[in-house]
Amino acid sequence: MHEPDPGAYEREAVSPEAGSDEQQAERALRPRVLGDFVGQERVREQLSLVLHSAQRRGSAPDHVLMSGPPGLGKTTLAMIIASELGSPLRISSGPAIERSGDLAAVLSTLQEGEVLFLDEIHRMARPAEEMLYVAMEDFRVDVMVGKGPGATAIPLDIAPFTLVGATTRAGLLPAPLRDRFGFTAQMDFYDDEELERILHRSAGLLGAPMDADAAAEIARRSRGTPRIANRLLRRVRDYAEVRGDGTLTLGTARSALDLYEVDASGLDRLDRAVLDSLMSKFRGGPVGLSTLAVSVGEEPETVEAVAEPFLVRSGFVARTPRGRVATPMAWDHMGRTPPPDAAFGAGTDADTDTDESVTP
Ligand SMILES: Nc1ncnc2c1ncn2[C@@H]1O[C@H](COP(=O)(O)OP(=O)(O)OP(=O)(O)O)[C@@H](O)[C@H]1O
Ligand SMILES: [Mg+2]
Repeated sequence: MHEPDPGAYEREAVSPEAGSDEQQAERALRPRVLGDFVGQERVREQLSLVLHSAQRRGSAPDHVLMSGPPGLGKTTLAMIIASELGSPLRISSGPAIERSGDLAAVLSTLQEGEVLFLDEIHRMARPAEEMLYVAMEDFRVDVMVGKGPGATAIPLDIAPFTLVGATTRAGLLPAPLRDRFGFTAQMDFYDDEELERILHRSAGLLGAPMDADAAAEIARRSRGTPRIANRLLRRVRDYAEVRGDGTLTLGTARSALDLYEVDASGLDRLDRAVLDSLMSKFRGGPVGLSTLAVSVGEEPETVEAVAEPFLVRSGFVARTPRGRVATPMAWDHMGRTPPPDAAFGAGTDADTDTDESVTP
């Protein structure tokens, strides 16, 4: 998690990252076996093969790297790997390893077959990375004794272990480190049907009765991300308990999510402000990032890092060489009519009617 700049928009309901008080709620909803892990079919199947063949051979499975955006289930899968193997799990993270000595202390105390989970592995210190290559390949650490020209490396054997690394930025991992993972799981965003399954499971665990329509409505607003789905579910549950009879219906889901300013496509206040500004002040663009940011009273970095990724991914905004452009789908979503000469980036006909998202 990163500290927002002073004055920067603090995203709550639809942040893909976990809030500081959210860990406990998440732990309660985390699937513990591969069979309860919804979606990511290909990753699940490949992983299940890796785990079962290792168990058959009676050896530690290949090291696994999980990469993908926040909230898609990397930590969850790491825990499932250890539990499927029946192995102890050691948890650490890149930022916690500031010197190679920190890593040596962890590696040299691993038990045979233990699973070592390194979260945010791209943030590990360089010298530690080098130590990790050797440990992954040869199950050995070179402990430096002494300083300066007289320093010597004493090789120390360590127990065979399985490293599970997680990263939101696989591109930042040096190639030698990436290459030493036998298996890379690339996590993708979830579709609505998968999110609905996750929501039904979570509602069951929370003891909250939920209609199928309510699940579909929450899923649609969850930006393809299980963490957001579970968070919106908790908000709707709270609302249903206070304002209704505790049952999650389409009506309570809509009222609750409207109250939290999460719209029918999962856009929040900042996302909508960006679209609104793009349309009302710049005729739909193209407009440069910093001009657009000023018009919504945010830093360009905030608009670029917080609002834009989802707006672009879901097809509301196009990035063109001349700037940001609102797509026909965005005009439609905001219930506005584009001016006849709207640019649409590639010079699309302004009358083009997109039938993309269903806005109730
Ligand atoms: N496939 C899934 N099935 C069911 N629940 C899931 C799934 N993926 C994620 N979740 C739920 O979403 C929440 C967030 O998942 P998790 O913490 O594993 O994400 P992450 O990828 O590690 O995120 P980060 O990058 O922020 O560390 C968890 O509470 C978990 O219960
Ligand atoms: Mg995680």
